Amino acid sequence: MARRRLGTYLHAKRALLERELDRILPPMEGRTEKVQSAMRYGVLNGGKRLRPILTLAVAEIFGVDERQALVSGCAIELVHCASLILDDLPSMDDAQLRRGRKACHREFDESTAILASFGLLNRAFQVLQELKGKGVSQKAIRELTLLLTAAIGTDGLIGGQIIDLESEKSMDYATLEFIHSHKTIALFLASAEFGCVLGRAGGRDRAAILQYAKPLGLAFQIQDDLLDALSTPEKIGKDVNRDVEKTTFVSFCGIEGARQLNRELIQSSIASLAPFGKRGAILEDIGRFSLSRRS
Ligand code: IPE
Ligand code: IPE
Ligand code: MG
Ligand code: MG
Ligand code: MG
Repeated sequence: MARRRLGTYLHAKRALLERELDRILPPMEGRTEKVQSAMRYGVLNGGKRLRPILTLAVAEIFGVDERQALVSGCAIELVHCASLILDDLPSMDDAQLRRGRKACHREFDESTAILASFGLLNRAFQVLQELKGKGVSQKAIRELTLLLTAAIGTDGLIGGQIIDLESEKSMDYATLEFIHSHKTIALFLASAEFGCVLGRAGGRDRAAILQYAKPLGLAFQIQDDLLDALSTPEKIGKDVNRDVEKTTFVSFCGIEGARQLNRELIQSSIASLAPFGKRGAILEDIGRFSLSRRS
């Protein structure tokens, strides 16, 4: 029942998001067609869209106009896609495959991929300004902008990624936690908090949503590490066994230990939804999905 409910929800919201992303991305034309094509290639390629779906689902709890949540969620997805293009570069993870196709720098070239990533980041912030015409206050737009900049910065994605790239095989738990909380959890938190800002959620509700999103983000990255160790490129659409040289939660706790930790994280994540009663049902489903996902 819950699985079917989430399946229908994901299908409907992904369709809306794909259309909105297509609208937001620059057309492939003119002199700068190459970089625009690379931007579209890096986004319109079958991502799960989980972060913007989180924004949509949280926004729904607070009765937000869906058009506002869609635009805001797309800004987050553009940032996520930009980070994946960079993450795949030879100087970072040196990946061949992304979302079942050649990584952006392999389809185009390295310089185009870097510029496309910058183009997406830039467009994300431009898109937030569009919210003005959709009834969102200047104050809320400013708050969204600050949240997104913080999630990308050295206290977010960039901070997590630099330590991830520098870390050696043996790493202590605190470093491992630092990497995950910055490179992955930061954007999950921002995605969920976007829904709170748009819905002018009160302090207690906002804290509950963040308490939901934090363990969810960690569990999501642990599942990603499990899939890296256990899955195949055909199933997950990206390179596998990329983390053998690294310490991950899987190498740290073992396969079963990582699975157990994941279950505990999702349990605690779902428990934070208690104040929302039935209104939290989709978020609860997303938690369970993150545990059972195979790609
Ligand atoms: C991959 O994220 C990178 C991580 C932070 C684990 P996703 O698994 O959400 O990737 P897409 O967007 O669905 O391709
Ligand atoms: C990357 O983590 C997370 C980012 C901030 C881009 P990974 O390197 O594990 O992501 P995948 O496995 O390549 O998607
Ligand atoms: Mg990486
Ligand atoms: Mg990677
Ligand atoms: Mg990974």
